Amino acid sequence: MDGNGRWAKERGLDRVCGHKTGIESVRAIVEASGDWGIKVLSLFAFSEENWDRPEEEVNALMQLMFKEVTEELDNMMSNNVRVVVLGNRARLSVDLRDAIDSLMEETSHNTGLVLIIFLSYSGKWDIQQAADRMAAEGGDSIEPYLITAGYPDPDLIIRTSGEKRISNYLLWQAAYSEFVFTDTLWPDFRKDSYRDALWEYASRDRRYGKVK
Ligand code: FPP
Repeated sequence: MDGNGRWAKERGLDRVCGHKTGIESVRAIVEASGDWGIKVLSLFAFSEENWDRPEEEVNALMQLMFKEVTEELDNMMSNNVRVVVLGNRARLSVDLRDAIDSLMEETSHNTGLVLIIFLSYSGKWDIQQAADRMAAEGGDSIEPYLITAGYPDPDLIIRTSGEKRISNYLLWQAAYSEFVFTDTLWPDFRKDSYRDALWEYASRDRRYGKVK
């Protein structure tokens, strides 16, 4: 969900205004995903590297997360959405962790869209924690130890705002993902942009390294 800062700057607004408008895009994309029968939608909301942003912005983002996690329950229930938050929980405040646990628990029986929010997540961190746990337990395969174990690898990864890199997202899990890059900034990324990205994905020929 990239480009919130630039969206705000273009309008002479504070960066946090960009993040707040970005939440409107989150709502639109979650709703469209449910309507279109998407099974799993993942959002990269905050990376391990994002902790190094100015304290003011980090605090504002954490407050926004807390507000959403505590206030969106009714909306998630009425849309039959199961919410899962994945990432390095140790870095989150106790209040936020408790709010996340409660939202995950309350929505755990919903049968519609699975909404995964990656919070304090990075791909290298995930592989490292998986390797550490595997070594400690004497396992012989990384996959079951990844934080995403049990969830499907992404078919499509959409990156907004014109950047064309993976930025430490799902490094292992993206092995055969399709990528769509769009210049649209996240706060402007709504249903029409999402539909365009899905049509582009539909035109791809996925061979998984094999010959068809
Ligand atoms: C990247 O844009 C965006 C973020 C680091 C934060 C994204 C978070 C939200 C939209 C809130 C999501 C909330 C929930 C509950 C999922 P940027 O700041 O890097 O923009 P820039 O590259 O233009 O500076």
